[in-house]
Amino acid sequence: MRRRSAVLSFCLLALIGSVVADNTTVTLSNSLPSGAQPLTSTHLSFSIEQDRWPGRADWVGTTERNQFTFNALTNLESLTGSPPKIRVGANSEDHTTWSPTVTINEDEFPPPSSITPYPEATKITVGDGYYRLVKFLPRGTQMTWGVNLGADNATNAVNMAKSILRAFASSEVKESGVELDLIEVGNEADLYGNNGLRNSANWTEADYVADWSAIAGAVVEATGIQGGSGVGIQGCAFAGQGFTPSGVFNLGILSTTAGKVIKQISQHRYSGAFCSGGNFALASFMSKDSVRSNLTVFSSDVEATIQKGFPYVLGETNSIACHGAPGVSNTAGAALWVIDYTLQAAVQGMVETFFHEGIGFKYNFIQPISLNRSTVDGTPLNPPQPALVQPAYYAAILVSHAVGKTGSAQISEIDISEPNVSGYAIYEHGTLKRAVFINLNAWLTSSTGTRPSVHISFAGLKGSSSATVSRLAINHADDIANSTFAGQSYETPDALVSGQQVVQKIKLSNGVDISSTEAILINF
Ligand SMILES: *[C@@H]1O[C@H](CO)[C@@H](O)[C@H](O)[C@H]1NC(C)=O
Ligand SMILES: *[C@@H]1O[C@H](CO)[C@@H](O)[C@H](O)[C@H]1NC(C)=O
Ligand SMILES: *[C@@H]1O[C@H](CO)[C@@H](O)[C@H](O)[C@H]1NC(C)=O
Ligand SMILES: *[C@@H]1O[C@H](CO)[C@@H](O)[C@H](O)[C@H]1NC(C)=O
Ligand SMILES: *[C@@H]1O[C@H](CO)[C@@H](O)[C@H](O)[C@H]1NC(C)=O
Ligand SMILES: *[C@@H]1O[C@H](CO)[C@@H](O)[C@H](O)[C@H]1NC(C)=O
Ligand SMILES: *[C@@H]1O[C@H](CO)[C@@H](O)[C@H](O)[C@H]1NC(C)=O
Repeated sequence: MRRRSAVLSFCLLALIGSVVADNTTVTLSNSLPSGAQPLTSTHLSFSIEQDRWPGRADWVGTTERNQFTFNALTNLESLTGSPPKIRVGANSEDHTTWSPTVTINEDEFPPPSSITPYPEATKITVGDGYYRLVKFLPRGTQMTWGVNLGADNATNAVNMAKSILRAFASSEVKESGVELDLIEVGNEADLYGNNGLRNSANWTEADYVADWSAIAGAVVEATGIQGGSGVGIQGCAFAGQGFTPSGVFNLGILSTTAGKVIKQISQHRYSGAFCSGGNFALASFMSKDSVRSNLTVFSSDVEATIQKGFPYVLGETNSIACHGAPGVSNTAGAALWVIDYTLQAAVQGMVETFFHEGIGFKYNFIQPISLNRSTVDGTPLNPPQPALVQPAYYAAILVSHAVGKTGSAQISEIDISEPNVSGYAIYEHGTLKRAVFINLNAWLTSSTGTRPSVHISFAGLKGSSSATVSRLAINHADDIANSTFAGQSYETPDALVSGQQVVQKIKLSNGVDISSTEAILINF
């Protein structure tokens, strides 16, 4: 689709703008502040539930590429220069068996319910063709694949890992340019004592290290993976704080056969859980303090990981566990949460955030196929809803613009006295290039009166007197559709952008207004 650019004058926007309720001055530094962190090209990446990776032409496609998925990922690549990384695994990785007689996969699903309209498969059997489907992803995609630790069966774990390695060694996958980065042995193994995969009486961190070392060690020996600049092992992938990176480091995991080829440490985070339903209020979810406190729980883990020389990632994350909460995870308000959360994670030293996706999950950025049941309550949809992007996808677009294409972005949080307004400054080669501001105050369908906004005045800036602003425009925080970024929509049949690009030119000395429930990207 062709992109045209229109610059609206500040005067016009000021006329149609809303009442300024608050006024705050922020100090921006033209040069890199100390403590700035890298903002990597793949900072916003995805994790996919393994059961419906191919399914019936689900995420990637079986006989041909799922063009919707491909376009949605390629849109991000066009902004950052690198396609998002893809991890496939999660709960299903511990319910997967490799079979020599299965071509792609065979899944067994429990019945849907109103709380879980799209349940995960309880049993997944895969063959070699399953892993070769990676060839349908964008060229250059770096992948992490899960291997079953839950079954405590080294033969099966080795079978899965060998099949993964065979796929990436095949000519069709080599030609596609999709690469294997990491093997993860076991998903959220800290929960095995509660979910029936191990006996709770003897499932301590020490039991885990012994068990993991046996199975992952067999995988490493059988595949010959060596870490370094080649394929390595993803460490930890824990759900909670019961087992920690420092805990397993102290138990000697890094000197085991598999521990020696660990390349990265992953932990998982959700800010709540919808496993048995419940009522979650969107307005209280859009909280600057909660975004921060949900990430600072990992501060000592990040520090311990960096001390050992490993990158630290949130290897699986999203708003609310068990596929998301309706009215929160699927809304435009959640898009603002995603922006603040991913950028805050970068500020806290987390190099990547892998947002978990399934088929029909409420928190998906991308619903890659047509669905005939409501993702919210499981009621039949007639006609079915087409493949679509959900509001959180616009967060990925804004964050990808913030990351930029040079691969050298660094990020620093901007100190803002206004509660529930966050800001980040992005630098390249030591120079201020972009800034992101997020007004998390909730403007809901039920809100009345004049929509409030915050006026931001800039201090400390030298040089250029003007900048351009691109807005993530949201009608209401609780809307599940119709957001735009820079005037453009991605809610199209093929996930390609549509509409005329609208960028606002501002004089920096005039500052900028940000409505409640809006985020902006400033290009200096
Ligand atoms: C905001 O602050 C600026 C700079 O102090 C001032 O010029 C302006 O009048 C203030 N605006 C409002 C709406 O308070
Ligand atoms: C372990 O996995 C292998 C290969 O799938 C299978 O043949 C064997 O029966 C499994 N062992 C147990 C104890 O389940
Ligand atoms: C764990 O507990 C179960 C049940 O008490 C027992 O059968 C098993 O041998 C124990 N395993 C270890 C490694 O202690
Ligand atoms: C920020 O937003 C959260 C969530 O809505 C709310 O609980 C909190 O009171 C807000 N803080 C302020 C100071 O307005
Ligand atoms: C995480 O976020 C949720 C939702 O905003 C909040 O209720 C919870 O208190 C936060 N947890 C922590 C540990 O900060
Ligand atoms: C919904 O789609 C699934 C998968 O294509 C199909 O098996 C099922 O019969 C459909 N249900 C309805 C009500 O159309
Ligand atoms: C989105 O906009 C369309 C067209 O204006 C409208 O029909 C639809 O109801 C809107 N959807 C939402 C969730 O706001």
